[in-house]
Amino acid sequence: MKLKNKTTFLFAAVIGMGLSMGLMSFNGDQILWCNRPFKTSPIPLVQRICFGSCAHQNKQEYLLADIAKLKPDLMVYLGDNIYADTKNMRVMREKYGMLSCKKEFRMLLDATHVIATWDDHDYGKDDAGMEYPMKKESKDMFLEFWNEPKNSDRYKHDGVYTSYYYGDSAHRVQIILLDLRSFRTAMLGKEDHYVPNFDTTAAMMDSTEWAWLHGELLKPAQIRIIGSSIQFATEHNGWEAWANFPLQQQKMFDMIKETKANGVLFISGDVHYAELSMQKKEGMYPIYDMTSSGLTQVEMKASKNQYRIDKPINTRNFGMIDIDWSQADPTILVRGFDWQAKERIIHGIKLSELKF
Ligand SMILES: [Fe+2]
Repeated sequence: MKLKNKTTFLFAAVIGMGLSMGLMSFNGDQILWCNRPFKTSPIPLVQRICFGSCAHQNKQEYLLADIAKLKPDLMVYLGDNIYADTKNMRVMREKYGMLSCKKEFRMLLDATHVIATWDDHDYGKDDAGMEYPMKKESKDMFLEFWNEPKNSDRYKHDGVYTSYYYGDSAHRVQIILLDLRSFRTAMLGKEDHYVPNFDTTAAMMDSTEWAWLHGELLKPAQIRIIGSSIQFATEHNGWEAWANFPLQQQKMFDMIKETKANGVLFISGDVHYAELSMQKKEGMYPIYDMTSSGLTQVEMKASKNQYRIDKPINTRNFGMIDIDWSQADPTILVRGFDWQAKERIIHGIKLSELKF
């Protein structure tokens, strides 16, 4: 359909039981996104962080309204924020447009600060890595959609990795958002049957991103939340995860240990269920990985994971971290909420547990 001059129309999409509606505008060939009222004010103290992933633009995203009601200081999108799955940037722009016009997305933007990294589907292709040919164009659109400030480091390097710091020196929360797509070596095997790649040159991130991460882990912070679009602390089970690149997974553990970075906690997405994993390595504190996926996508069976420490949530879900700074040894409460915004996973961690 070619639309001349500025035209606004109502779109509706029905998938399964979900109905999604919104207004989208075109100006000639140019698709105009709905205004996205991103908050840009500083966050003086972070006490509540919500996070989620895997949100199909054709479906209702009512959990975003539940998140807005919880009034987090911050919402972190962990990827598959839309299902673009295309090399056609016009199609990708249309799909971002559908998200931009959703009432529940705008409620979220009105309620809290929102930051994001990407995973395969919003990068452009299922389980894709460095071989995806439109990564530059896709990155430009990602930064435009998520309202990246003009002075951001993300414009100065390849990929979308970045970090954020909130709070004063006694209450500093560092959020590290990784890019696990732009530089990743192609997978070995097929989906559901991926095999571990022990090649020493196989990479999740390139040397520049690893060096940047090393520098970040040396910067002072009380709590460091690492946003990894795919699961970090799970065992190999044939699906995409850090476990398919065991040497890179070990490199991450080694880097945390070598930099003596205290307060590290992973959050991840991708798998269409929620679970909390924990791995304890020799000479290190426990490394937790709270997975929340998806805001619309659901997988009815969780894959095997010997590191899971609570029951998975096999419905739509989101995650939340509350930090109680009022205690001498602050508590970090990690939770997963189901499709009715009911708490289903809960795990308290004392900050002193996450120390060398
Ligand atoms: Fe994914």
